Formats: sequence, structure tokens, C-alpha cells
Amino acid sequence: MKVFITRSIPEEVKKTLKDQGHTVSDWQEKRSMTADELINHCKRNDALLCINQKLDSRFFEECSHLKVVATNSVGFDHIDVAKATELGIPIGNTPNVLSKATSDIAFLLMQNVARKAIFWHKEILNGNWDFLDPFKDLGVDLQGKTLGIFGLGRIGFDLAKSAKGAFDMPIIYHNRNKNEAAEAQLDAKYVSFDDLLAQSDVISVHANLNEENKGIFNSAAFEKMKPTSIFINSARGGLHNETDLLNALQEGVIGGAGLDVTNPEPMDRNNPLLEMKNAVILPHIGSATLETRLAMVKLSVDNILAGLKGDPLPECINPEVYS
Ligand code: DGY
Repeated sequence: MKVFITRSIPEEVKKTLKDQGHTVSDWQEKRSMTADELINHCKRNDALLCINQKLDSRFFEECSHLKVVATNSVGFDHIDVAKATELGIPIGNTPNVLSKATSDIAFLLMQNVARKAIFWHKEILNGNWDFLDPFKDLGVDLQGKTLGIFGLGRIGFDLAKSAKGAFDMPIIYHNRNKNEAAEAQLDAKYVSFDDLLAQSDVISVHANLNEENKGIFNSAAFEKMKPTSIFINSARGGLHNETDLLNALQEGVIGGAGLDVTNPEPMDRNNPLLEMKNAVILPHIGSATLETRLAMVKLSVDNILAGLKGDPLPECINPEVYS
């Protein structure tokens, strides 16, 4: 059968598909495909391995022949899953294999913001490494500070473990459901959303984006946080309101922010957040390590192989398609 991939991936991974007798083609241009280009390619294929490409209801209506779609991500807010399910198309994703790498980016952002690392690096580049002013632009210690996690699942758990081990940070969290493992192993305490805002020294966001939590970190939320607190988002840019975040940072409502995700992506080069002392912005690199990206794409290939055989996918977002 024919598999289409929206980005170039390593030959060794493509070989796994070819060894099973499938034909593989991938998008080689250094730009994202348009919606029409994607549809036209998929019309000639049986399966799609989707990397960084939006799949809306029109896509699924036009490509309802697809036997399987594998998204090379844990998140699936870019996919109209309801439409795929209605058309009986199984969608695979890549949970677990990226949890550690993504939690590491949140940990790195937390430390970078707390110690103003990027700001100080820019000072060197700007020729300002000269006179030592011992009480200017100081960071803060993380030791013993409270880490609040919004959406404590696999990635949040790994972050909590790192933060506890490195800085003995007490963990509080707010979720739809309690996380018994985090409570038992990390002494994490479930709190209301308002208590999470009020009690955390650092808040790190790890929830899936959905209609209920879109923009939940807005002016009203930032105002309930401590003026020294640090806001970290490595989940989805849609979870925070970027204008409100900028105002909160400029007006000292909160102390700092570290973002691996923005809204929109890519961020405008002239966005004032990029110039702020108390903000660190990264271009969505949570899973960007060689080991993790390979593990993700191998899992995506396993999803495709299972889907082409008509077997249940190893990681399926919409298992209802089988009932
Ligand atoms: C994910 O896997 O969801 C990452 O954020 C990459 O999109």
C-alpha cells in the first residue's frame, strides 16, 4: 500500500515500511503543505504519517478512503478527531515516548527564567559584561519553592519528579481527575484551580488543549498568582492568552514566564515577549532530541503498519472506530 509522510524522515525508519512491501513518499520542500496540496497527495495514498500539519473536517471528507492516519505528536488539537471517527478512520499518536524530553524542556525553562540565563547571555552579546552590580537583575532560588502543575499526566509527573529530586519542591496540582501515582510517589497534593494559582511559586502547564481550557491562563488567572511567580507553558500556546501574559509580565503581576509554545506559532519576530528580561521563549522544541524524535516516528510507523493491516493501533486516539 502507499504511505505519504508530510515531512522528510530518516531512511532507516522508512525502510521499516518498505520492508513490509509498502511504497513510501514524503514531502521534501522546506515549507508546510497547503491544505489542497495535502489533500491531493493523500488522494493517491492509503495512509498518512502527519508531522506538523492541520487535519480539518474538509481534509477527512476529501480523504475518507484513508485506512489510517498517524500523527507524530502526543497532542491532537490540530486534528478533527470527531470527523475521522465518524468516517471510521483510526488516528494514532505518540504518547509516553516524549514525556521525559518534554518535561525536561519545562524544567529547563523553569531554571532559565528563575536564573535569568537567557537575559544574561544576551547581556554578553550586547557587550554588557563589565562592572559587577551585586544586587541588579538577580534570579531566585528554586530550592523548596512550590511547583504547581496544571494537568498532571505523564509529562507533568516527570517534571514533578525532576523538580522534587533537584530542588525538593513541594508539588501541588490541578486536574480533571486525581493522579493517585503522583500523590503516592511524589506526595503531590490536589488543589482547586484558584489554590493552584495562589499557592504556586512556579506554575507549569501540561494539559491537552480543549474548548474548556482554551485561554484559561488570562488576566484574571495571572492576577490570582503571586507577584514573584513563574509561569511555564510547554503544552499548547492556546492555553494562555498571550496579550494578557505580556501585560502581566510588564506590570509585575507575575515574576516571569517560560514558553515552549506560543499562539500563534511561529511567533512574530517582533513580539515584545522576545525582548523581555523575565521571559524565555523557545520554538516548540519539547520533543526535539534525536532519541525522542526517532522513538516518536518509529511509534508512528507502528501505528501505520497496524492500521494498514486492519489491526488496532498500538496508540489510538479514537478506539471507538473499532466498536
Ligand atoms: C506533541 O507531541 O504534541 C508536541 O507538542 C509536538 O507537537
